[in-house]
Amino acid sequence: MKTHAISDAIRCIPVDIRTADLFEGIWPIPKGFSLNTYVVKGEKTALIDLVQDQPEAISQMEKTLAPEFGTVDYLILNHLEPDHTGWLREFLRKNPQAQIISTAKGIKLVKSFYKIDKIDSALRAVKDGETLDLGGGKVLTFFETPNIHWPETMVTWEASSGTLFSCDAFGSFGALGGRLFDDEFNKAEHEEFERETLRYYANIVSSFSIFVERGIQKLSNLAVSCVAPSHGMVWRTNAKTIIDRYLRYASYSKGAAEREIAVIWGSMYGNTQKGLDAVRKGIESQGVPTTIHQVPNDNISYILTAAFKSAGLVLAMPTYEYAMFPPMAYALDIFRRKHLYHKTVLRIGSWGWVGGAQKEYEAAIGDLKWKSLEPYEWSGAPSDQDAAILEERGKELARAVRA
Ligand code: FEO
Repeated sequence: MKTHAISDAIRCIPVDIRTADLFEGIWPIPKGFSLNTYVVKGEKTALIDLVQDQPEAISQMEKTLAPEFGTVDYLILNHLEPDHTGWLREFLRKNPQAQIISTAKGIKLVKSFYKIDKIDSALRAVKDGETLDLGGGKVLTFFETPNIHWPETMVTWEASSGTLFSCDAFGSFGALGGRLFDDEFNKAEHEEFERETLRYYANIVSSFSIFVERGIQKLSNLAVSCVAPSHGMVWRTNAKTIIDRYLRYASYSKGAAEREIAVIWGSMYGNTQKGLDAVRKGIESQGVPTTIHQVPNDNISYILTAAFKSAGLVLAMPTYEYAMFPPMAYALDIFRRKHLYHKTVLRIGSWGWVGGAQKEYEAAIGDLKWKSLEPYEWSGAPSDQDAAILEERGKELARAVRA
């Protein structure tokens, strides 16, 4: 397979994964994703991050790594999640001389995930700012960037080329299809990758936005000319674009989301949907953009992404057996787990013989720091009076989001 030169001493081996499996067992990946491994050659050879234990990835690595680069002296593990380490046992069988380098927390995870006999002598824990001299003027420096997105995460810096090996940080969903660098993709492809970068961030990283900001601040003195993540394209021409994009996404967690409204709804027999139509009419009259997502029909990955990006939410659900419509309860649980803070929210819904959704809803959103507009519930089908009130609520939400 093709490898790509980042500098005279650095090459990337990008492995595209196109599988029906879910990323992390949760998130759909219809456009696949890439696992980028990097080789840095001085007098010694370092490999930065591995691939997961997946036939497509292993076969491509086996065809490329040893034939093109020979044996590896150092294996740098920026992050221990198994999409970057699953091949470790087999890699060590082929490279028994390799020293494994990670943070102290990373080294603990090597042991707990892989249970490899007599591995201790091959492990080296590095501290923040520690260096590894490969000879030939190539020196790697390690910076701890905890919680982007696991506690052990670090990045690796190669100063002579200005390359930052950031692992998950600055990553994206989306396979690369034989290209690697940001200047090799056209405008439409960049727009698609941007959508997939946002979805990756919302799904994988959004709980840790405060650490993204801290990490970027910590690294801000580095003269980064190339951002080389382990998922998605390598940014050698416009490195600032992806750094700024991550900073913008991190700001969404602090209430600086886009002035648009994600409408998330579920309806049993159409009565909540009819009420929602009136809300949407009110929003549209104010010219605020919306995206529409139905539970349980739409995948939570996309619903979460839209909700994360939007300053405003409409949550429309009926009461179901004295409580929330269950698919909406699941969506709210994901929002809570992903720290979907600081939204302006309107909750509406129909009930049949008795209400109950609102009570459970209020408990579910307890610590999300949302600004809630006055909710509106009605029995059965919405009357003309209900519709008029709902339209007004839609206008009120739109005005609050636009302000
Ligand atoms: Fe790409 Fe957190 O692993």
